[in-house]
Amino acid sequence: MKEIILKTRDFVKKKLENEGSGHDWLHTWRVEQLALSLGQEEKANLDIVSLAALLHDVWDWKAYDGDETIGPRMAREWLFSQGMDEEIINHVAEIITHISYKGAGVPTKMRTIEGQVVQDADRLDAIGAIGIARVFTYGGYKKRPMHLSGTKPRLHTTKEEYFSGNGSTIDHFYEKLLLLKERMNTATGKKMAEGRHHFMEKYLEQFFAEWEGKR
Ligand code: NI
Repeated sequence: MKEIILKTRDFVKKKLENEGSGHDWLHTWRVEQLALSLGQEEKANLDIVSLAALLHDVWDWKAYDGDETIGPRMAREWLFSQGMDEEIINHVAEIITHISYKGAGVPTKMRTIEGQVVQDADRLDAIGAIGIARVFTYGGYKKRPMHLSGTKPRLHTTKEEYFSGNGSTIDHFYEKLLLLKERMNTATGKKMAEGRHHFMEKYLEQFFAEWEGKR
C-alpha cells in the first residue's frame, strides 16, 4: 500500500504541477497533510485518506468544463492500473464524487469518516490565510474583479446557479468561504475552522476600511 501511495503522489504531482487556478499540486499536498492529521485524531483509515486526498482534484471540474464525472473516473482508472482492490477503488471514487462545495443551499454529505476528514481538509484549505490567497488566485484566473461596490452576494440553491456566478472575489467570501465553518464534519475540523474563520472576518473588516479610504 505504501508504494502505491508514493506512486500516486508522484502521478498527481506531475499532473497538477503547473495548474494555475489554485487547485494545484501544493493545494493537494496541503490537503493530504491536513487530512492525515485530522484522520489520526478521528481514527480514520489513513491509506484511504491519503489516496482520496491525493486524487481529489486530479481533474477539477470547476476549473475546467463542468463535468463532475471525470475526476472520479480518472481516479478509478489510476487505482485500477495499480491493481488496487475494488472496495478501495469504490470508496475513493465515492469520496471524490461528493467532496466539492456546490453552493450555499446544496447539501454535500459524506458517508464515511475517511470522506469526512478529506472534505474537512479540502474546506480548511479554502479558508483562513491560505483560503484568502487562493480565492484571489482563482479570481484572477477567472478574470473576476476583486470587489464591486454595492453588489450583493447570492446564496445559491442549485449547483448550476452557483457555477454560473460571475460576481466579485469578495462576493465569493459570502457565497462560500464564510459558510464553510458551519459545514465541517469532524470536531477537530470544526475547531480549526473557527480560528481560520475569525482571521477572514478581520481581513474583510480591514479590506472594506481600506476600500473606503478610512484606514
Ligand atoms: Ni481541493
